[in-house]
Amino acid sequence: MVQTVLNLIGGKWVPSESGQTFGRKSPADVTKSVGEFQLSTKDDVKRAVEAAGQAFQGWRNTPGPERGKILYRAAELIERDSEDFAIAMTIEEGKTLVESRSETRRGISILRFFAGQASRLNGKTYRSENQRTFIYTVREPLGVAALMTPWNFPTAIPLWKIAPALASGNTVVFKPASLTPLNASRIVQVLEQAGLPPGVLNFVTGPGSTVGEALAVRDDVAAVSFTGSYEVGHAIHVARANADKMARVQLEMGGKNPTVILPDAKLDNAVEIVTKAAFGLTGQACTATSRVIVHESIKDAFLEKLVTRVKNLNVGDGLQPGVEMGPAVDETQLEKDLEYVRIGSDEGARILAGGGRLERPGMANGNFIEPTVFDEVTTDMRIAQEEIFGPVLSVLTAKNLEDAIEVANNTVFGLSAGLCTTDLASAHEFADKIQAGIVTINRSTVGAEPQIPFGGEKRSSTDTFREQGEEAIDFYTRIKTVYTVY
Ligand code: UN1
Repeated sequence: MVQTVLNLIGGKWVPSESGQTFGRKSPADVTKSVGEFQLSTKDDVKRAVEAAGQAFQGWRNTPGPERGKILYRAAELIERDSEDFAIAMTIEEGKTLVESRSETRRGISILRFFAGQASRLNGKTYRSENQRTFIYTVREPLGVAALMTPWNFPTAIPLWKIAPALASGNTVVFKPASLTPLNASRIVQVLEQAGLPPGVLNFVTGPGSTVGEALAVRDDVAAVSFTGSYEVGHAIHVARANADKMARVQLEMGGKNPTVILPDAKLDNAVEIVTKAAFGLTGQACTATSRVIVHESIKDAFLEKLVTRVKNLNVGDGLQPGVEMGPAVDETQLEKDLEYVRIGSDEGARILAGGGRLERPGMANGNFIEPTVFDEVTTDMRIAQEEIFGPVLSVLTAKNLEDAIEVANNTVFGLSAGLCTTDLASAHEFADKIQAGIVTINRSTVGAEPQIPFGGEKRSSTDTFREQGEEAIDFYTRIKTVYTVY
C-alpha cells in the first residue's frame, strides 16, 4: 500500500487544501512508489507561517537548555532507528546504504551539537567610557525561519538548518525538496515525538515554484535559508529584495570544485580521494569534485590508476552490499548527465571511462549511469564551467602549482577545493590563494563536520553567514545591546 504523508501545520497533520498529492518513485527502481505527498498551495504556506508566528513567543521564552533537551531526545530517537532511517534514505534518494548510514550518523551529531549550543547562546559584557554604566549584549531569535532544502542530503541538510534555528529560539516552516519528502517527514515526526510544542516546526511539501516561492517572499518570515541551485538561489535573492520586509537570506548553491594533484602526492591515496569525491553520492553533492587538475609530470600515471579504479566501480541499487555508486536521483538528472556527456564529446574532450547509461540486466527500471571521466578538458569548455551534479569528471592539466591554482580559480563558483600533496609549503600556498570557502588537503572535497563552519565564495554562497559550527547561530540570532546606568 502506498503511504500518504500529510503536512504538519500548528501541531496537526493535515492534507493540503488543494486536495491533490504528488508521488515519488525510487530511483533504483522507478516501478516502486516511495509515497504520496501534499501538493500544497500558497494558502497552506500562509497557514504554516502564521502557525509558526503564533508559536514564536512561547518558544523564544523557553530557556535554551530546555530547547536543547528536545533536540537531544530527537537525536536519541534517530539513533534508535538509525538503520531504518538509512534504508529509507537509500530507497528514496538512491545513495548507497553505506552513504545513508554515514549521513544518518551525521544527522545525529548535528542534533547533538546544536542541542549543546542551545545552552551557549551567549552575549558579552563591555567596559563603558563612563562610570556606573554596565553594557551587555544578548542574542535574540529572529522569528519565523523559512527553510528550503535539496534532495541530495535529505537528512543532514534539513537538520543543519532546523537544529540551529530551533536551538536559538526561532520557529520554523520547512519545505523539503520534492524528490525526498519522505525522509524530510520522518525528521519532522521525530522532532515532534521528541516534544516540540505545536507550531514550532511546520512542514509543507510541494514544488519550489509555488510553495517555495510563496514562502520566500512573505513579510512574516524573518529569515530564509535555502540550499540548491544558483538559478533558484538567485531568484530567491531577487524576490526577497523586492519584498517589503528585508529578511535575512542565506543561500548555499552550486560548485565546480577542483582537486589538484601535485607530483609529490601519494598517488594511490589521491586516486581514492578523487574517486570518492567525484563519484561518491553519484557525484550529486555541491561539494563534489568535478574537475581534477593534474600536474603534467604525473598525469599518465595518475590517469591510468584512476581509470582502472573508475571502470571497476560497483554501480547498482544502493541497498545491495558492496555497491559503491547508486543511481541518478531521477530521470531528469540522468538526462542532464547524459546531455553533458554529449556536450563534452562535442567540445572535443576525450572519454576515458563511462559515457553512457548503464543497462545491465536488472537495471532497466533504475536511473543508472556509468561513472564518466573526460580527458583533454580545457577551461573554456562547458564541462569545465557548468555544474553537472552527476558522476562526470573533467581532467585538466597544469604545469605547476601556480598554474593549477589559476585553472582551479577559473570558475564562477567557489565552494570547496582539494589538493593532494605531501609538501607543506604547497599546502599553505594553495590554502592561501584558492578561491573557495572550504579547502581540503589530502581529503575529499565532500563531507562537512557539524561543528565546523561551512559555506563558499562567489556564486556558491551568499557572502554573509556560514552554516554549521557555532557560526550557524549568527544567522539565526541578532544581537541586542543594553546600556544600564546605575
Ligand atoms: C558535504 O560535503 O558533505 O548540497 C555537504 C550540498 C552541500 C552540502 C555538502 N550544500 O551538496
